[in-house]
Amino acid sequence: MAIRPILTAPDPRLKAVSVAVEKVDGEIRKLAQDMADSMYAADGIGLAAIQIGVAKRVIVMDLDQKTEEGRAKKDWKVFINPKILWASPEMATYEEGCLSVPDIWDDVDRPARVRAEWLDLDGKRVEVEADGMLATCLQHEMDHLEGILFLDHLSRLKRNMAIKKLEKAKKLSA
Ligand code: NI
Repeated sequence: MAIRPILTAPDPRLKAVSVAVEKVDGEIRKLAQDMADSMYAADGIGLAAIQIGVAKRVIVMDLDQKTEEGRAKKDWKVFINPKILWASPEMATYEEGCLSVPDIWDDVDRPARVRAEWLDLDGKRVEVEADGMLATCLQHEMDHLEGILFLDHLSRLKRNMAIKKLEKAKKLSA
């Protein structure tokens, strides 16, 4: 178990385009475990590898709603080399946040349903049609693999205000 620091915006490393995983081996399984540990420690529901500075196409997610006592169980899933095969024309709006964008939440419109494929920790191909939180979170995390933050979906005015707030927070904590 290793909790690794999560990069926060603005940080040029978060803009990197991640590379595909060639082989799902012990190194990738260790990375996924570290990502899950880091995600739980930060109280998040999803994390892309680039958020701990590793530019590989790996995502972990646990959408279980938290209870007062914390999580009932740590039932996380991993998505390696995910691809969107189809996206619905209907959109859905969710208020999004991000471990790399602390203390900022805003509404983002994304396709309401997607069909996606990825590799699991055994290197097996999985294909699922997702809606609701899973569809939104998967698209949010997949954006990270392209160096895109949810802020990039907001108006320029809102994005600039958010970045100023993030820069200020960084200065205060430096
Ligand atoms: Ni995020």
